[in-house]
Amino acid sequence: MSAPVRTAIFPVAGLGTRFLPATKATPKELLPVVDTPLIQFAINEAREAGVERMIFVSHPSKAAIERHVMDDADLRATLTARGKTDIAQALHETALCPVGDDVVFTMQHEPLGLGHAVLCAREHALPGPIAVLLPDDLILGKSCLAEMVDAYAQAPQGHMVAAMHVSQEETRKYGILSVTGRDGRVVHADGMVEKPKPQNAPSREAVVGRYVLDGSIFDDLANQPPGAGGEIQLTDAISRGTERLGLAGFRFSGTRYDCGSKGGMLRATLDLAAQDPECAEVLEEVLSSGKIAFRTSSAA
Ligand code: UTP
Repeated sequence: MSAPVRTAIFPVAGLGTRFLPATKATPKELLPVVDTPLIQFAINEAREAGVERMIFVSHPSKAAIERHVMDDADLRATLTARGKTDIAQALHETALCPVGDDVVFTMQHEPLGLGHAVLCAREHALPGPIAVLLPDDLILGKSCLAEMVDAYAQAPQGHMVAAMHVSQEETRKYGILSVTGRDGRVVHADGMVEKPKPQNAPSREAVVGRYVLDGSIFDDLANQPPGAGGEIQLTDAISRGTERLGLAGFRFSGTRYDCGSKGGMLRATLDLAAQDPECAEVLEEVLSSGKIAFRTSSAA
């Protein structure tokens, strides 16, 4: 049995270059899927997993994230005074409360990579394994982190990463697990290969943005020289710990959307809009009108 996961880390200090110019003034993590910012989905997921402390690794230029995440009593009071009590109540329920919740904001002043962002959380993390959630990997359905935390509690120790089956062609876009065995939803691995050529991919089990990591990840990150692109890569540190600790993938039950890309964001938006009565009506009308001109190639 492993120690409980008490800390969730949200790295949110990246540049969001793939969404420029939208992300020039608005952090990528606040881009909405219909009416809910990406970061909110990740917070809800971590809450369901029962973590005690949430650490946001942000950047001074992204202060809007803190404004969204934390409770805004003044806004709620204004809404209540105007009779919009249901909206005020909904905001209260989703926001983190400075008194009741254990929340830390810490800064990564330069975007030196995901691994570096996780290392920035070190002094604030509670003892034991940590969870890392990348908000631009949106996972809908049952809380992926809650599923992983349950599975991790049964595991002996080591690192666990969320895993998803992809086509052979898509392996080039992900970290791919080198699989040694399977046990239900748990995929045992002895390493992972970053973005392999499809013909060299060791499996079709792709790693996506949820991690439960042994606390020694911080030492491995601190002792690690910069990797690809001069950044401190989280996957390099996980790989370094694999031989010592073991590595498992977890096949989560939900649906994952790559909301770091325009296509993934659009897919998520369409799927959620189809579930929302107000939007579904519009969507149906637009699609059945036959008036959308699709352009699938960039050629004029
Ligand atoms: P991404 O690589 O998807 O985000 O990192 P990015 O770098 O902001 O986006 P692009 O590639 O330029 O479009 C996944 C998560 O890790 C955070 C990001 O904010 C995002 O939530 N991150 C990334 C950091 O906090 N610090 C970094 O140095 C890099």
